[in-house]
Amino acid sequence: MRKNIVAGNWKMNKTLQEGVALATELKEILKGQKPNCEVIIGTPFIHLATVAEVIKGSVIKLSAENCADKESGAYTGEVSAAMVKSTGAEYCILGHSERRQYYHETYEILKEKVLLALANGLKPIFCIGELKEEREAGKQNEVVKAQLEGSVFNLSAEDFSKIVLAYEPVWAIGTGLTATSDQAEEIHAYIRSLIAAKYGKEVAENTTILYGGSCKASNAKELFSKPDVDGGLIGGASLKAPDFKGIIDAF
Ligand code: PGA
Repeated sequence: MRKNIVAGNWKMNKTLQEGVALATELKEILKGQKPNCEVIIGTPFIHLATVAEVIKGSVIKLSAENCADKESGAYTGEVSAAMVKSTGAEYCILGHSERRQYYHETYEILKEKVLLALANGLKPIFCIGELKEEREAGKQNEVVKAQLEGSVFNLSAEDFSKIVLAYEPVWAIGTGLTATSDQAEEIHAYIRSLIAAKYGKEVAENTTILYGGSCKASNAKELFSKPDVDGGLIGGASLKAPDFKGIIDAF
């Protein structure tokens, strides 16, 4: 059976001290609780090692928000998958639309990043999703198919099984516009059918597909009630512990 997951994506927010305070607060709020989903926080690189210590002994797991597309060497300013892994992080968000849009990450670059993350024992949270214009032109299925084929459908079934997918319509990210639960279900089911066609029904049934894009405590329950929506990737609402806890409680 696939896992339900609620994962935070802090993006470029919080100083180290603020991030430690947020992780500490979340750990406190979740103390003694048994959430019905896996809980992950995705933090900037500089927080990882310290936050890994803070959340020790709690249910919270740790993710990076990116990693380099090169193994090591003269790539000033980059952070490798091996470095991420060495902090204690277990996951790595890859292919977020902000990385694709603002940092020009192509299918090929993302393919390399996914391979390096897996080779270093990190589980990618691989993001896909269409732009507003693409949705308006009815091209959302075409877009997510190309994103999967371009960066992750090269993997063996064994490696693909380690991946979590996040469907995030770009028009819903940080805009307050959420896909309706029916819109989310429709495309999540389509994504699962693509996985089934490529890797078989069992792998498809075991793949966790998260929804992301203005997901908050008030709409999470409705979204997560859909059979193919296995949780959320949460931006804005992951920056305050009570808000994030409200989404975890939707399960
Ligand atoms: P949001 O971001 O929840 O702030 O819309 C989601 C994301 O980009 O992962």
